[in-house]
Amino acid sequence: MWDNSNHMLYLDHAATTPMRPAVWEAMEPFVADTFGNSSGSHGVSRRAKNALEEAREVLAGLIGARPQEIVFTSGGTEADNLAIKGPSLSSSGGGVVTTAIEHEAVLESAHFLAGLGRSVVEVPPEPSGSVDPDRFAAAISPGTAVASVMTANNETGAVLPVAAIVRVVRSVAPRAAIHTDAVQAFNSEDINVDDLEVDLLSLAAHKFGGPRGVGLLYVRAGTALEPVLHGGGQELGLRSGTHNVMGAVGMAVAAQLAVVDRSHFRARVGPERDVFEVRLGELVGAVRTIDGERLPQHAHLRFPNRINETMLIQLDQGGVAGSAGSACQSGAVTPSHVLTAMGMSASEAAECLRFSFGWTTEAGDGLKAAELVAGVLS
Ligand SMILES: Cc1ncc(COP(=O)(O)O)c(C=O)c1O
Repeated sequence: MWDNSNHMLYLDHAATTPMRPAVWEAMEPFVADTFGNSSGSHGVSRRAKNALEEAREVLAGLIGARPQEIVFTSGGTEADNLAIKGPSLSSSGGGVVTTAIEHEAVLESAHFLAGLGRSVVEVPPEPSGSVDPDRFAAAISPGTAVASVMTANNETGAVLPVAAIVRVVRSVAPRAAIHTDAVQAFNSEDINVDDLEVDLLSLAAHKFGGPRGVGLLYVRAGTALEPVLHGGGQELGLRSGTHNVMGAVGMAVAAQLAVVDRSHFRARVGPERDVFEVRLGELVGAVRTIDGERLPQHAHLRFPNRINETMLIQLDQGGVAGSAGSACQSGAVTPSHVLTAMGMSASEAAECLRFSFGWTTEAGDGLKAAELVAGVLS
């Protein structure tokens, strides 16, 4: 949890995670030596292609998919773009139903489609941070091409009832493609595409100890998708562009390690997060923002009468990396669309911070982290 190279207490695993050492070891040969373009026809290319296909097989196996159902992307954003735009643009109606608390990659893709005249509905969350399956179902119509609900929210950590939502969507619009953004959930939740009964599922390697800049979209066989990137026709025509072989190799190793570690991760990280929250409550009056089912690594807290932007500066100066969970590209904190959709006022939302633990978290870290954070804020 202590990032020695940056001299920081790193509590921002939901933004990105440090790479696991074994991941870099697996990737290194593909940085310089095995550099071939996996689409070529000679031996140099073949070695790259073999590594790519091995990575695809491993990743497919880990989520209960078939290798040909894995489309490598540049990360979660691109996977979400393809998942939302792909089914909409391949159908005549092309309606989108999603939730108001999705990541911007989903919401902005939906807004883009709305600009093209497609119907878009954003179902609001409950004050608990979760989404009511019946409310979601009420938004579905026969013209719905894609329904998208995230497995877990990146700001609050709320775990959404994906299986229940899938059941109701199938009963109203059996032909709609159903997507889940599992980018935040992969560390701690069992992710199997058949158990979830989804057609599309997004993952990003850098959220579970893999490299930044690589991800995947699971595409159930038979799901109609219009590609977003056009070009050389890689990935069965769904995602053109020369493959990031080292990224795919790293993602496969990171995913294997995350799956092996999963139950231990839950048992190790959840209690540290709980201690962190309780102690911060005692020391500075921080309060949890949600009380329903949530990821074990997320601590989303409200600090009454304090402003998150100011706290983030104090924390940074005090050697703690946290997040408001809603920074834009410039780093400025904007009112969180997730929190305001849950019913918080902009000023209440501005009192909230997200701290996220991860695979480097060890016993005792929760208490140490709470005392350091409280010391900085006092
Ligand atoms: C839920 C969720 N979806 C999508 C993304 C985007 O992933 P990437 O950073 O790999 O583009 C993120 C990243 O924060 C996320 O948390």
